Amino acid sequence: MTGAAQFTVLPVTGLPEITAGTDLGPLIADAAMAGPGLLDGDILVITSKIVSKAEDRVITADREAAIDAETVRVVARRGQTRISQTRHGLVMAAAGVDASNLPPGAVALLPVDPDASARRLRKAISARSGAKLGVIITDTMGRPWRNGQTDTAIGAAGVAPLVDYRGEKDTFGNVLEVTVAAVADEIAAAADLIKQKATGVPVAVVRGLGDLVTDEPGPGAAALIRPAEEDMFRLGAADVLTARRTVREFTAEPVSAQAVRRAIAAAVTAPAPHHSQPWRFVVLESEQARIRLLDDMLAAWRSDLTADGFTAEQIAKRVRRGEPLRKAPLIIVPCLVADAAHAYPDARRNASERTMFVVAMGAAVENLLVALAVEGLGSCWVSSTLFCRDVAVAALGLPADWEPMGAVGVGHPLAPAAERPDRDPEKFVLRR
Ligand SMILES: Cc1cc2nc3c(=O)[nH]c(=O)nc-3n(C[C@H](O)[C@H](O)[C@H](O)COP(=O)(O)O)c2cc1C
Repeated sequence: MTGAAQFTVLPVTGLPEITAGTDLGPLIADAAMAGPGLLDGDILVITSKIVSKAEDRVITADREAAIDAETVRVVARRGQTRISQTRHGLVMAAAGVDASNLPPGAVALLPVDPDASARRLRKAISARSGAKLGVIITDTMGRPWRNGQTDTAIGAAGVAPLVDYRGEKDTFGNVLEVTVAAVADEIAAAADLIKQKATGVPVAVVRGLGDLVTDEPGPGAAALIRPAEEDMFRLGAADVLTARRTVREFTAEPVSAQAVRRAIAAAVTAPAPHHSQPWRFVVLESEQARIRLLDDMLAAWRSDLTADGFTAEQIAKRVRRGEPLRKAPLIIVPCLVADAAHAYPDARRNASERTMFVVAMGAAVENLLVALAVEGLGSCWVSSTLFCRDVAVAALGLPADWEPMGAVGVGHPLAPAAERPDRDPEKFVLRR
């Protein structure tokens, strides 16, 4: 970008109250042309609220229920406040559900596809005005590490959302390595200075940044959404532990090997006795290994149940319930190697020593499951290998001192876990 010497932000006034079905494009075009005019290279910055109103996204609903419906993932929760990811991928307070500037009982939901709305508005306004324009649709967002809110671009058409300066040199000749300017957000914030909610001006024209206006609609504001795998803060810190829930149904989407690697790296930071590192993880990458383990364990389970005296029908019913591993795209078998355990002359202390290592294994597996949850992966730690240890050791061809400690099914959850009421810590505590 060559850089404009200056730009101006001009309010568009005189818009009537927008209601469902209002044909917003011509209305904005006429108001803009009656006011600041519309010139080639202008960027129209439009508050999402009026787009929502025109697109019939203002509904009469309980605010909390509306937030539930708009949320695909809760990122953080503090009391009543929820920071949610919407189906657009936006992460914002209350999933973008807003009751301001609306009659009591009404809430506005974000446009269904703000980039598509921006493209439609751009086409309509360009057609009416004859000017080559960009359109940005804005919404107000808080920032996790900054006080106050600013406007950001949630939809864009005909405007470069990002300008990549990487590889260019600064005035000292240093090569810029990370600078990608979120220009659509910067324009949204600049326009907000003029069209602040209180003044009731929902549209502004930004003039002087024509080098950011493109012929094509372009990638839209979707390009500003950081992909999940690059998100270092997928959850609020206090929400990390509760993100882990037992998941028994998965989608067919494969599990990222890097995510598993990171989760195992987290697992092996668990506490363990005698400064030992007794944890091992068998990652069943091949279908052959996975099927062999599952089939051998199933046969062992059936034979246990037969020995217990269950009928064939009862056995079939029981084993059907034990299917979470078979449905999981990936299986990880956590194993304990307790070779650092001290040997005592008596059984009591040997048993205590053993318990220490077993609980250290539990700590590592919990780390693993929590880290997988942070990656957006569901997991189910099941007992199976513990009940047929020799069969599992043989099926997996494990070294003699590796003791399987259950098995963990991993995959992308088919559905969000059912809400679980908060547990009262006092019920778990004895004070002395
Ligand atoms: C050592 C261990 C063994 C488990 N075995 C099984 C199992 O065999 N089958 C199963 O469906 N869930 C199994 N679970 C998962 C529990 O049923 C689950 O943790 C519990 O229902 C609570 O749900 P939450 O994990 O979502 O909090 C096991 C959990 C642990 C810690």
